[in-house]
Amino acid sequence: MKIGIIGTGKVGTSLGKIWFEKGQEIFFGSRDPYKASKLAETFNDKIITGTHADASKFGEIIVLAIPWSAAEETISSLGDLSGKIIIDVINAVAPNLGGLLIGHTTSAAEKIQSWAKGAKVVKALGAFDPEFLSEVKNRTPKPSLFISGDDAQAKSKAKQLGELIGFEVVDCGPLKNARLLEPVGMLWIELAYNQGMGPGIAFKLLHHRKLPE
Ligand SMILES: NC(=O)c1ccc[n+]([C@@H]2O[C@H](COP(=O)([O-])OP(=O)(O)OC[C@H]3O[C@@H](n4cnc5c(N)ncnc54)[C@H](OP(=O)(O)O)[C@@H]3O)[C@@H](O)[C@H]2O)c1
Repeated sequence: MKIGIIGTGKVGTSLGKIWFEKGQEIFFGSRDPYKASKLAETFNDKIITGTHADASKFGEIIVLAIPWSAAEETISSLGDLSGKIIIDVINAVAPNLGGLLIGHTTSAAEKIQSWAKGAKVVKALGAFDPEFLSEVKNRTPKPSLFISGDDAQAKSKAKQLGELIGFEVVDCGPLKNARLLEPVGMLWIELAYNQGMGPGIAFKLLHHRKLPE
């Protein structure tokens, strides 16, 4: 898959590295293309870099790995997003990890869908620390990656990408269910950082009865 990663912070870099190692085509987009080109040197010459807009043009899949505060402006800079699949991993967290900035009657993912006209947004809530992402594949049982979205084909691609990392992907229904997923991300942040459990934790959906056929 051709994946444009918007933002070269911890999350964007970790996701790009894992998917690159699994044979995906990665384009790192940065506000500072020079910074992205230096990042590419730590991979090999198959990694392409440029601006956020370049990465967006390249990707059939676009991963928004940026702060919530930058989301609206960044999306407006990405050009035509018609038909693109956008994977939204953003936690819309208040400063000092002080709770979610949006919720109940909408969600960050739904706002992103309203700004990204014509795109197919999938919320992906792995509740992960990017430092631990490369270890997900070694965990037993597999940690859950909760996704929601309105487009079946977009969710199918997001599922494939989640499984490449080693997650068990749980389809949580339509995009509006991001209103439920995003507080799960906040719970992970609260447990990891405010309640002292540390970032090596993950959530797992257990099935105590056989799923209906
Ligand atoms: N779903 C999950 O399980 C999960 C887990 C962890 C984190 N997250 C979320 O993933 C996102 C990225 O996390 P991170 O730790 O990588 O964040 P970060 O280091 O704060 O920022 C990521 C990148 O976004 C770009 N950026 C920063 N400020 C910007 C601005 N004002 N305008 C445009 N681009 C800007 C920068 O890349 P360039 O300079 O290269 O443009 C930066 O390196 C966050 O929203 C975080 O909440 C989700």
